[in-house]
Amino acid sequence: MGAVDVEIRPVSGDATGPGERLFLAWADVYVASGRHAFGPAHSSWSAQERRELLRSTERQRLAWAAVAGEVVLGAATLAMPLHDNLEVADLDVAVHPDRRRQGVGSLLLATVESTATRAGRSTLLAETQWPIGRDDEGGAFAASHGYAAAQTVLRSTLALPVDRERLQGVLAADGAAGYRLQTCWDGVPQEWLEGRAELSRRMSTDVPLGDLRLQEEVWDADRVRSTYVQIAAMGRRVVDTFAVHEATGQLVGYTQVQVDHGGLAHQQDTLVIRGHRGHGLGLRLKAASTLAVMDELPSVTGIRTWNAEDNLPMLGVNRALGYEQDAWLREWQKVV
Ligand SMILES: CC(C)(COP(=O)(O)OP(=O)(O)OC[C@H]1O[C@@H](n2cnc3c(N)ncnc32)[C@H](O)[C@@H]1OP(=O)(O)O)[C@@H](O)C(=O)NCCC(=O)NCCS
Repeated sequence: MGAVDVEIRPVSGDATGPGERLFLAWADVYVASGRHAFGPAHSSWSAQERRELLRSTERQRLAWAAVAGEVVLGAATLAMPLHDNLEVADLDVAVHPDRRRQGVGSLLLATVESTATRAGRSTLLAETQWPIGRDDEGGAFAASHGYAAAQTVLRSTLALPVDRERLQGVLAADGAAGYRLQTCWDGVPQEWLEGRAELSRRMSTDVPLGDLRLQEEVWDADRVRSTYVQIAAMGRRVVDTFAVHEATGQLVGYTQVQVDHGGLAHQQDTLVIRGHRGHGLGLRLKAASTLAVMDELPSVTGIRTWNAEDNLPMLGVNRALGYEQDAWLREWQKVV
């Protein structure tokens, strides 16, 4: 079948009846695509998580399905940041494994790209992910459409549970006098929202960005609060551990882990701000959150993390905790 038989239809997470069936089949394409690369245990966004992402006030998200007859062959999502990075658009195209190399991906990509450029977005970003030892098939597709590799990222996983005494040893070691750690589940105290916003702002440019044309993010207390509302609506649990500078009460570091419906934990940001580095706070923050996940949610099987290949301090912390690399991710960028 050629791509000419294929129709591109908009997808809504809030539709009912046939529209809802289209949404569910669209979400299933991402699941099938992920399992094709990573096997049946692959953890994809659930339909509930994708529905909440489409409702997000963080980014405007639009979605399309490639349909032949009533069969959904491919899925695409466009996400446009709303608070900052107003020239950036994130694209996510997936084609059902049985329907590849028939032009479906190219058709979806053309729709997403033209919508993004009409919305004034000139920096188009996409990600590909593949297991160690396999080819980056999505990368070949991205390159054939004019995208350049902008950053290479290691995906690593820490199998849980880990030896509790080892983590407690990390937390008890000397070297971080003058700092205390505090762990919070499913939100942060009201009086920390501003401090948390400042950490997110710093996080956006303090991490290695490779060739990615990303600008500093704009954060305030309301934006922080709304991220926790969204995480809860997605059915996720979230734990943040903070490093507090005792002399000033300032939040000087944090790490966040989110646990999905399937019992896999996803490491999000980790940051220790400049001036407070070199005290082992990064390792302690992550050790504290690992213990918190083991205590609160003992059925969680692992924590997964993604780190730029040149982020040597973070990779060192992860190795010390026992993370092992299991896949690669690449960021692709096209400036139009
Ligand atoms: C990447 C993906 C969307 C491509 O979908 P598709 O419908 O097979 O893509 P197309 O048929 O439109 O391919 C267009 C061109 O991309 C290149 N391409 C696509 N897949 C390729 C592969 N496995 N190896 C080498 N080149 C490939 C080829 O140049 C191809 O043209 P050709 O078939 O005439 O040689 C699909 O493989 C997929 O869902 N992968 C997993 C998710 C992903 O990585 N998404 C990429 C985000 S940018």
